[in-house]
Amino acid sequence: VEFLLRPYRLEDFQALYEIDQACFPRGVAYSKRMLRWYLAEPGAECIVAESGGAVAGFVLTARSGAEGHIITLDVLEPFRRQRIGTALLEAAERGLSAHGVSKVYLEMATTNAAAVAFWQKHGYRTADVLPGYYSNGDDAYEMSKTLTPAREC
Ligand SMILES: CC(C)(COP(=O)(O)OP(=O)(O)OC[C@H]1O[C@@H](n2cnc3c(N)ncnc32)[C@H](O)[C@@H]1OP(=O)(O)O)[C@@H](O)C(=O)NCCC(=O)NCCS
Repeated sequence: VEFLLRPYRLEDFQALYEIDQACFPRGVAYSKRMLRWYLAEPGAECIVAESGGAVAGFVLTARSGAEGHIITLDVLEPFRRQRIGTALLEAAERGLSAHGVSKVYLEMATTNAAAVAFWQKHGYRTADVLPGYYSNGDDAYEMSKTLTPAREC
């Protein structure tokens, strides 16, 4: 499938909200309020993958000093296993690295087998288990990865 990556625009908000609701169970998916809050944080970066004029997925990151955080990475079901998630993550990591981030963290439900495989493949390792992290009672893995500094040329 053909897709392009571009920065988030305000008019994408409803699509992002609906994609997040479709990608995650109740209690794990973000409310509109939380999604708006993360998008407005200083240092927030949101990259959208667009296919055929519609949003197919997105990644949202936060950063503070040398620490980065993947807030969410969502690809709509019909678009999965076509490297859109990989392209979004690589773009997000490049952005974080360019802002001096050296370590990236994320949390994910321990029951999310597809995500475990995806994050492992991209070099993320389990740093901790957070019992009852989600409001539906699910436990989370905290995963982290050390970024290799972007090469200056
Ligand atoms: C996790 C997610 C973002 C992956 O997006 P994607 O576009 O399908 O990922 P890619 O096509 O780039 O996958 C790259 C590799 O990750 C691994 N992977 C991805 N999905 C997998 C799955 N369902 N089962 C096993 N391995 C998987 C594979 O190694 C895959 O390479 P391959 O297709 O050559 O085998 C997507 O499944 C998703 O949005 N899930 C729901 C939301 C979520 O769990 N997000 C992550 C937690 S924040």
